[in-house]
Amino acid sequence: MKRRKDMLGLRGVERADIEEILDTAEQMREISRRKVKKVPTLRGRTVVTLFFENSTRTRTSFDLAAKRLSADTLGFSVSTSSTTKGETLMDTARTIYAMSPDAVVVRHACAGAPHLLARHFPWTVLNAGDGINEHPSQALLDMLTMRDRFAEIDGGGLEGRKVAIVGDVQHSRVARSNIFGLTTMGAKVLVAGPGTMCRSDLAALPVEIRHTVDDVVAEADVIMMLRIQRERLGRAVLPSAREYAAFYGLDLDRLKRARPDVVVMHPGPINRGVEIAADVADGPNSVILDQVTNGIAVRMALLFLLLGNADDHAQAP
Ligand code: NCD
Repeated sequence: MKRRKDMLGLRGVERADIEEILDTAEQMREISRRKVKKVPTLRGRTVVTLFFENSTRTRTSFDLAAKRLSADTLGFSVSTSSTTKGETLMDTARTIYAMSPDAVVVRHACAGAPHLLARHFPWTVLNAGDGINEHPSQALLDMLTMRDRFAEIDGGGLEGRKVAIVGDVQHSRVARSNIFGLTTMGAKVLVAGPGTMCRSDLAALPVEIRHTVDDVVAEADVIMMLRIQRERLGRAVLPSAREYAAFYGLDLDRLKRARPDVVVMHPGPINRGVEIAADVADGPNSVILDQVTNGIAVRMALLFLLLGNADDHAQAP
């Protein structure tokens, strides 16, 4: 990771780099268990979170991660910025750049927005979700969560595991980043969802396309349920939430057909009773809250590896 300036996506990222991020995140996790949850590693550095789309968990997770490494943080959100007054993305970026931040965490509804900011400015850019393209920190925290659970179950890693991603795969940047990351780590990805949310053009990605949730449940080591991305669907592609739950939702009856130690995941926010039943989301197979905890550790690792390593004066935690 030494020469990497940005984290824009997991497509093309090598296995050794993913392993380094996950191993570093494991060390970072220890800091969050202390009474004083702070190390001086990024003292004096400034991290801006620049969010053009609503977000609570990703934004607060990056914010806490930066704070636990002692960086100064500044939140810049679209509702408080001039973009609502017609300012372009590049003008917003120039304004923020004039305040000399070291890193910018960007979320934008357009695929490629973080790449543009990474190309035109020398700061470090972390993609916190760009349209339907990628959401790399989410997939990394998902992989860390899976790795932990597999280590507990049988001592193994990600290699050879079957991960089923179910639901609106077509519009999910979480799914895309997981597909790239997991296949690099030697796992196999099965996808299932309604025809409009899991189209045959997904075959261009390294996945096996199935149809209903019943086609993947029995053989999966991990079942990752996705939220329907209503904001990206445009016109309705789904008759009703009830019908969706009947064909694609994960409830206790379906879970009975899975391996007893199957790992149930969801990036959040969850729609209880639609893609996942409440008793499954809160049940013993669910690692949904571990995903949230690991999110901070993974984002601390990314900030440390991208910013800390580049600076000779940075102190290791
Ligand atoms: C995901 C996102 O924004 O892509 N959520 C998140 O990062 N907390 C998934 C989703 O919105 O469904």
